[in-house]
Amino acid sequence: MSTWLPNLNSETGRATVGHKPVLLEEVLKGLNPGKGNVFIDGTVGLGGHAAALLERHPEIKLLIGFDLDPYALEQAAARLAPYQKKVRLIHANYTKIPEFLEAESIGPVDGILLDLGLSSFQLDSSSRGFSFRRDEPLDMRMDPDMKVSAADMVNSLPVEQLIELLKNYGQERWAPKIARAIDKERKKKPILSTKELADIVFSAIPRKHHPRRIHPATKTFQALRIAVNKELDNLAEALRTFPGCLKPLGRLVVISFHSLEDRLVKHSMRNDPRLRPITKKPVTPSIIETDQNPRARSAKLRIAERIEDS
Ligand SMILES: C[S@@+](CC[C@H](N)C(=O)[O-])C[C@H]1O[C@@H](n2cnc3c(N)ncnc32)[C@H](O)[C@@H]1O
Repeated sequence: MSTWLPNLNSETGRATVGHKPVLLEEVLKGLNPGKGNVFIDGTVGLGGHAAALLERHPEIKLLIGFDLDPYALEQAAARLAPYQKKVRLIHANYTKIPEFLEAESIGPVDGILLDLGLSSFQLDSSSRGFSFRRDEPLDMRMDPDMKVSAADMVNSLPVEQLIELLKNYGQERWAPKIARAIDKERKKKPILSTKELADIVFSAIPRKHHPRRIHPATKTFQALRIAVNKELDNLAEALRTFPGCLKPLGRLVVISFHSLEDRLVKHSMRNDPRLRPITKKPVTPSIIETDQNPRARSAKLRIAERIEDS
């Protein structure tokens, strides 16, 4: 875990100021910042939600932003430069939040936000292979210091494990065919680029079963990204520990982008005795928002509150 000490006037950050955070108004309302003064953005990304929170609520005394991606933190730092004195940016997994709060003697906080998934920067210009739309190295690590990349997994996992990965994290019905096609190709030469993998998946799924709305490799890429970054394990751990980091009536706000994540969030908010769900059903973006930002389409927001006497 390291505190990020960037150049707060970085030009790279300024270039991202136009980015519009998903479900912004709903997140700001959900965090209920009126009385609180310490908030954590566990996935600060490009700093969109964090900047809006600080701009609308000058009474906030401290905003702590975590992110695995050092390049995202650089951009968040530039965007949050006007609030520099109130902001701390930490290069670490959000699962480290409880440890951080204890080590820094900060104590329970008023709200924690998780906006899961990828930032537009990671998808469009990180060159780390998150998208099959460009030919890039097959990497997919949110933190470039992590040991195992998508290429490592694709080229070394036994076929049975590849099948399980594609089934469990991608809900891919063609998992056995895709895994066997990968195995056949990697025996000839290692699969190192997004295009190579996307082409293999494209050919492995029978043409008449190609999905109409999405690229045939979408589920495979999703599954690999979840596995490389241990996304569901991180979320499950956070949901276990974050309620203990909240003040009474403190809010937990989570935006998820696929059903596996939303299921974990729903279950935990309903069943954790320390939490009271505020949203009965997930909040989803309006048609206006999805027209402007098609990537918001699958977003689901859930909110819970720490109960007073738990
Ligand atoms: C959708 S983006 C957040 C965008 C942000 N809310 C904004 O308005 O700019 C998700 C971010 O979460 C980060 N991330 C994903 N998993 C993480 C984890 N376990 N710990 C810390 N950061 C994580 C990614 O690197 C990415 O920058």
